[in-house]
Amino acid sequence: MLRLTDVHKSFGELVVLDGISLEFQQGLTTAIIGPSGTGKSVLLKHLVGLTHADSGTVECFGVDMARASEREIYSVRRRFGMLFQDGALFDSMSVGENIAFPLVHHEKELSAAQRMERVEQVLEEVELPGFSTRDTTALSGGQRKRVGLARAIIHRPEVVLFDEPNSGLDPMTSDAIDALILRMKERLGVTFIVISHDIVGVMNVADQVGMLHGGHLIAYGPPSELVHNPHPMVRRFLGRNLALPKGTDDPTTLPSLKLHR
Ligand SMILES: Nc1ncnc2c1ncn2[C@@H]1O[C@H](COP(=O)(O)OP(=O)(O)OP(=O)(O)O)[C@@H](O)[C@H]1O
Ligand SMILES: [Mg+2]
Repeated sequence: MLRLTDVHKSFGELVVLDGISLEFQQGLTTAIIGPSGTGKSVLLKHLVGLTHADSGTVECFGVDMARASEREIYSVRRRFGMLFQDGALFDSMSVGENIAFPLVHHEKELSAAQRMERVEQVLEEVELPGFSTRDTTALSGGQRKRVGLARAIIHRPEVVLFDEPNSGLDPMTSDAIDALILRMKERLGVTFIVISHDIVGVMNVADQVGMLHGGHLIAYGPPSELVHNPHPMVRRFLGRNLALPKGTDDPTTLPSLKLHR
């Protein structure tokens, strides 16, 4: 459904993606992890045609994104919901208007009342009930993030791209976002691609995890395999993020490692 094949991408001298091949499976949640500046956001942007590969192919729903017409790219994009890393809300609009934005574009047939109903529904999903008339500039960082999440899912997309859905959120709200991902996957069969530094969330929600480092996909597989991966970068990433006791670098050797925040 979504496939990258031998994708290379540089910005000037800087090689960001150095031959990435990766397939995102329908109905599953794939997490992309890796150090800061390693190309995770750039990888995601290829899927919706916001960035184009220097070489290799990016195929979404059977469309070759490098050769697609504007119309084809538009029809691919409407099947996606996106939360960008910086949230990208319009401060001149209310919370409700921000969230309804994709509906105005993608579901023109809805009445204003139907739009409002959908806005209220997704605000409840992200645990911000009654926020639709709020002023966007008055939101906290975590609230902005959740409004961005609500906007990403309101048009009921088939694929949802979440770039750091949990960053800046408290543990309880993070749990609520993880639960939202699991619920949408189970009830609606939504395919998620989630970039995250929150290894607890990754372990809880992901079916597959890919780790990017130095332009390469250095690990790929289910979380249960990732914890056995011997690559030093993977070990460091897991060790640090799971806050393992001194002297332990393998989370699987901990008898009662529970992935709760
Ligand atoms: N449009 C651009 N022009 C030039 N360089 C860019 C551009 N977009 C990204 N880069 C560079 O590509 C590299 C990868 O960026 P990217 O945003 O994908 O990192 P990331 O893995 O998402 O990091 P983080 O975890 O900090 O969000 C960075 O060095 C960044 O400066
Ligand atoms: Mg990023």
